[in-house]
Amino acid sequence: MTGVTRPDPPTDLSDKAAWRAWARAVRAEVPDVSGAVVACLRVFLRSVGARRVLAYRALPGEPDVAALHGEFELLTTRARFRPAPRLTLHAWESATEPSRFGALQPPPGAPELPLSSVDVALLPALAFDVRGVRLGYGGGFYDRLLPDFAGVTVGVTARALVAARLPRDPHDCPAAWLATEDGVTATLSGEERPVCHAGRMTQTITVQVEGFGEIQARSGERLVLALERGGVDILHRCGGVARCTTCRVSFQEGEPSAMTAAEFDKLTEKNLIGQARLSCQIECAPGMSVTPLQTARSTGLEPGKAPAEEIEPEPVWSTRPGASTEG
Ligand code: FES
Repeated sequence: MTGVTRPDPPTDLSDKAAWRAWARAVRAEVPDVSGAVVACLRVFLRSVGARRVLAYRALPGEPDVAALHGEFELLTTRARFRPAPRLTLHAWESATEPSRFGALQPPPGAPELPLSSVDVALLPALAFDVRGVRLGYGGGFYDRLLPDFAGVTVGVTARALVAARLPRDPHDCPAAWLATEDGVTATLSGEERPVCHAGRMTQTITVQVEGFGEIQARSGERLVLALERGGVDILHRCGGVARCTTCRVSFQEGEPSAMTAAEFDKLTEKNLIGQARLSCQIECAPGMSVTPLQTARSTGLEPGKAPAEEIEPEPVWSTRPGASTEG
C-alpha cells in the first residue's frame, strides 16, 4: 500500500468539526486493523487481570473488538436520549437490534449492568491524541459515562488516527491507554498514567507482588482490591473491615506511613505490629512492593466476603509505629 496520501490535520484546535472531517477522511484510507488491535488488546487485558470489559459494537471504520468475547466478559451499550443522552450497559449477546448509528444494540428493555462492575472500558472514537484525549462523534455519551468510571480506560483506534493534539474540553477524561495495531501504550510515559476516577484524575500505578509479578492499580485504591483484581488470591475473611488479619501482607518497599486506627488496634491485638500490614486498610501508592502472607492457595480457605470499594470502618488516620516523622 504505497502512494496513499492522507489529509493533513487541521491547525485550529478550537474547530472540532474540522477535526471530525479530517478523522473521517483518514479513516476512509485506513485498512481494517481489527485483527492486530484485538491481538494487542488480548495481551493487555490479561496483563491487567481484566474480567468484565465494556466494549462496543463497531461502526464501519472502527476496529472491531468482538473477537475478545469469550475470553473476557464483554458488555455493550445502548444509547438513551431521554431525559438526557446517556449510555446504559448490557450483556454483549443482548445486542440484537440495529441502532440509529448503524451498529447492533440491546433492545430498550434489556437488563442493565452496573458501571462499577467493569474492569476495563474500551473506548471507540473518531480519533485520539497522544495524551488520550478522545474525539467523539458529538453526542457526548462517553463524556457523561466516564466521570463515574473507576476502572482502566483504553482508547481503541488505528495508528493513523492518533494525533499529536486534539481539541480538549475541561470535562474531558483522557484514556489512560491507547490500543492500535502497534500495541497498547500508556498515554503518558512512566507510571503517571491518568485515569478518571469518580470525576477526578488519578494515576494507574504498578505494584510489585512477590510470586505474581507486576499488577496494575489505581493510586488510592484499596490494596486488597487491587491485589484481587490483579489475580492474587488474597484472603479477606472479614470482608475488609479489620476484624481478621487474613488480608495481611508484608512490604519490601513503599510501606505507607499512614495507618488506620482499626488496623493499629487489630495488629496490636494479634501481636503483628512491625511484621505485617492489613491490605484492606491500605491505599495503593507508587513504589509499593509487597508479599501476600495468606492466600486461598496457601491456606485452603475461601477468600471471604468481597470488601467494599472504600476503606471500612471509616478510616481514622495516624502514623504507624516506627515510621519516619519527616513528611
Ligand atoms: S482484616 Fe479482614 S480482610 Fe482485612
